[in-house]
Amino acid sequence: MRGNSNTVFDCSVIDLPQIFNDAGNIIILENGNNIPFDVKRVYYLYDIPGGASRGGHAHYKLEQYIIAGCGSFEVILNDGFNVRTIVLNNPNKALHIVPGLWRELDNFSSGCISLVLASELYDENDYIRNYEDFLEFKKELL
Ligand code: TYD
Repeated sequence: MRGNSNTVFDCSVIDLPQIFNDAGNIIILENGNNIPFDVKRVYYLYDIPGGASRGGHAHYKLEQYIIAGCGSFEVILNDGFNVRTIVLNNPNKALHIVPGLWRELDNFSSGCISLVLASELYDENDYIRNYEDFLEFKKELL
């Protein structure tokens, strides 16, 4: 069976260590140190128009850290039974999303950047893009 029985409560918001400097601060993420998976891919969303909604899918295998590199947005997590809304509005917080959860991103502030660190290369076969299919997938795991 593919996937897992993860719930929204298996996701957490991690405080990232910061180095403060009068000339600007630094946050460092290192494989094997302060991130629980090897990062194979990094991507970021930018120039997001007002009212846009992203995501609307789940992954069988992919794990992610999502960070508001700039500005703010909301991540709505859904495991088919429970829904959690997490506001990301500080670059020193990373939302760890475990596999097998439906997610939507919305309420993006103007000019915001959504930075994503991912445990796998892009693979369309790892997506569940239909919500009914996602609910079936979660039911199979009961
Ligand atoms: P998608 O993951 O659906 O975007 P979001 O969840 O942010 O709404 O990806 C949008 C499009 O970009 C889709 O056609 C696949 C493509 N894409 C890649 O080719 N590689 C990638 O690493 C990502 C994240 C997306």
